[in-house]
Amino acid sequence: MKAKITATARYLPKRTLSNQDLEKMVDTSDEWIRSRTGIEKRHLVAEGEATSDMGKKIADQLLASSGKSAEEIDLILVATSTPDYLVVSTAAMVQDKINAVNAWGFDIVAACTGFIYAMETGAKMIESGKYKNVIVIGADTMSSIINYADRNTCIIFGDGGGGVLLEPSDNDIGVLDSILYTDGSGSKYLNVPAGGSVQPASKDTIDKKMHYVIQDGKTVFKFAVKNMADVSKEIIDKNGLKGDDISLFIPHQANKRIIDATAKRCGLHEDQVFVNINRYGNTTAGTIPIAIDEAVEMSRLAKDDLLLLAAFGGGFTWGSMLIRWGNV
Ligand code: UT7
Repeated sequence: MKAKITATARYLPKRTLSNQDLEKMVDTSDEWIRSRTGIEKRHLVAEGEATSDMGKKIADQLLASSGKSAEEIDLILVATSTPDYLVVSTAAMVQDKINAVNAWGFDIVAACTGFIYAMETGAKMIESGKYKNVIVIGADTMSSIINYADRNTCIIFGDGGGGVLLEPSDNDIGVLDSILYTDGSGSKYLNVPAGGSVQPASKDTIDKKMHYVIQDGKTVFKFAVKNMADVSKEIIDKNGLKGDDISLFIPHQANKRIIDATAKRCGLHEDQVFVNINRYGNTTAGTIPIAIDEAVEMSRLAKDDLLLLAAFGGGFTWGSMLIRWGNV
């Protein structure tokens, strides 16, 4: 038995932050941001809007388009690095907000690779035969952990998320394979230093702005290109495929230059690669499910197409997933 995607959804908050807006906040320029990252604007939550609010909107859409009731949902997985609370999972908040009274759920913290980790978890739950309707969400409120005075990070990230409904498949449609990695020795290059058990929140950590994301962009860039390309190539080779067999490649959207370099190293042409970073920036666990939903809307996925996902993120975490597309 495999797990197939039977519905897709996305949610981007209304408010936007353009490169021109950022020019007024930090020493940067529209030209620098476009040429170094490919980003033109990003979306930001409204005041008081949290990750679970985005998750609820995504789950509501999944229920509406699949025709399922909330009571039919067995499991809710939320990939996020920006949970509503440190204690209480965002999945629990979504469960309550959609009134999925028969579901259990939990969060998966794997930064930008979070959605692929959550898809792997959800797919294995379906394959076990025990669960029939699994909601997998990737969503991040990056604006809650970004220092808008730090040009190294504030130009990259945005808020948003997406999700899918997974159901059992008794044919060759669905998640075919995945390869996942974690290397915690990379944690020093991208993290939020304070607010956890290493450095609990204090006046001092707040004064030092340690509750914001810090990133050694150059190092992360180097690892991202190498590992995303390697893990994409690895899954293509492992399944006896060639680059041309991939109908659509949806890479994590962190930097257009990382996407281009990865595609080139895997022998994929521009028309095989989905790019929307210009409109949303890096929404962390949100980028891949947002792109999947847009690809469906744009009819870029047809029955039996091979969809390749790949991501790299903080941890370090990285991975790829191969999906045979069904009727969505
Ligand atoms: O989602 C997964 C995790 N994150 C990533 O994958 C992000 C990976 N890293 C990147 O995307 C890129 O490294 C960045 C976009 C963060 C930075 O781009 P870069 O080409 O690596 O720039 P850099 O850090 O090497 O800086 C080049 C120059 C420096 O000036 P000097 O020293 O050459 O005079 C920076 O100070 O650009 C300067 N700079 C900026 N200038 C204008 C750095 N940030 C900015 C900025 N605006 N926002």
